[in-house]
Amino acid sequence: MESHHKVREKFSSGLAVFFATLGSAVGLGNIWKFPYLTGENGGGAFLFVYLICVFFIGLPVMIAEFYVGRKARQNAVGAFDKLAPGSPWKVIGFMGVLASYLIMFFYSCVAGWVYAYIFKALRGDFTAITTEGVQSIFGQAVVSPLPPLVWQWIVLAVVAIILICGVQKGIERITKTLLPVLFLLIIICDIRSLTLSGAREGLDFLFRVDFSKITPPVILTALGLAFFKLSLGMGCMITYASYFTENNNMIANSARVALSDTIVSLLAGIAIFPAVFSFGMQPGAGPGLLFMTIPMVFSQLPFGNILLTAFFILSSIAATTAMLSLVEVPVVYWSEQRGLSRTKSVILNTIIIAAFGVLATLSADKTSLLGNIQIFGKGFFDLFDYISSNILLPVGGLLIVMFVGYVVKQDDYIRELTNHGTLNNKPLIQSLIFVTKYITPILLVLVFLNSVGLIKLN
Ligand code: PHE
Repeated sequence: MESHHKVREKFSSGLAVFFATLGSAVGLGNIWKFPYLTGENGGGAFLFVYLICVFFIGLPVMIAEFYVGRKARQNAVGAFDKLAPGSPWKVIGFMGVLASYLIMFFYSCVAGWVYAYIFKALRGDFTAITTEGVQSIFGQAVVSPLPPLVWQWIVLAVVAIILICGVQKGIERITKTLLPVLFLLIIICDIRSLTLSGAREGLDFLFRVDFSKITPPVILTALGLAFFKLSLGMGCMITYASYFTENNNMIANSARVALSDTIVSLLAGIAIFPAVFSFGMQPGAGPGLLFMTIPMVFSQLPFGNILLTAFFILSSIAATTAMLSLVEVPVVYWSEQRGLSRTKSVILNTIIIAAFGVLATLSADKTSLLGNIQIFGKGFFDLFDYISSNILLPVGGLLIVMFVGYVVKQDDYIRELTNHGTLNNKPLIQSLIFVTKYITPILLVLVFLNSVGLIKLN
């Protein structure tokens, strides 16, 4: 179906573009997922592989998505239909819509835990708490069946309301002022963490690379995290780029976003790992890691409760801005391709996510009926995460670089990335095209073959 002929919204400036993209990238991925995956997968070695994935795979994919989105100014499915009419490439868009749902099912659950922690911190539940204390609070927070569900629905309602109100004005302003504050709070956390007795051990764990820890599943997990972190491989950046200003320097923007995002993740790691070793916890503690360490970091500080409350408020904002971009993918798909109004589309998608999100949330209780259902050896929460991050996003990324590398006319790619010759970055683009055509796809294919055991990279 043809899209509406309304004038499409746009971000107001280059700075707004940067903060909106960064607002999508920075989220629970940095403060929750990055630390716990690094903890489970061997620390420095995992970080090393992750950084390679961000810069050699993530960046070219991001630039390719920016190109597709800004050129087509359409939703993720419509964009491919417009640039390659009638071709099967729009399957990338459909996979993206699916990935967005799968991610939202568990992401909204974790965001619900974060919202709940704001009130626990405010109430002083963590004052002078012990290691056992934080573990038991987290355990209770995720298994008591009703509260986590209600929090998840509150999260979804907040996201829906902001999306209905129209993203630009609200979100642009929120991200611009609050991301820097989150940054500051993490640095306070870092300073405190670095004065703990286990600081050395924590930093060693995070930064010392032990190559023997790099196994095929570790590589695939690092790759999946790089895609998840930078919101890639699922049409999210395509959708956002469809709102970009015409004269945005997309290469510079992608580099700034990837770099800033990586810094936030590292700062979160520096806050968390010293605490892990100081308070006798396990780096491989899993999805609860953030919720057990950060309260300990703040618990003995003067004004600890206030700092902790602020930390969870800002984390919930980061999570919320990331979710806006996640849900925006199916929202614009349903409105532009299927003719729903924006409001109806938001409501429909919220209902879909709330319905299936229940599976992720209730599966956290391993003693419950749902918690015992295993598909391919994984509960619902992990399954949604695995299929999206480790399969759909990297496959989507592979297809996107192939599309831009082999289907799109090179001259046009150069014209768009130079903003019709106004930017003086041609040599850079030549190397980018080389990487996009040969390096990124080959690396992606190697990681896949490696992870199914057909070749050995390490
Ligand atoms: N990048 C976000 C985070 O790290 C998650 C996300 C994934 C957002 C995919 C949009 C698309 O929290």
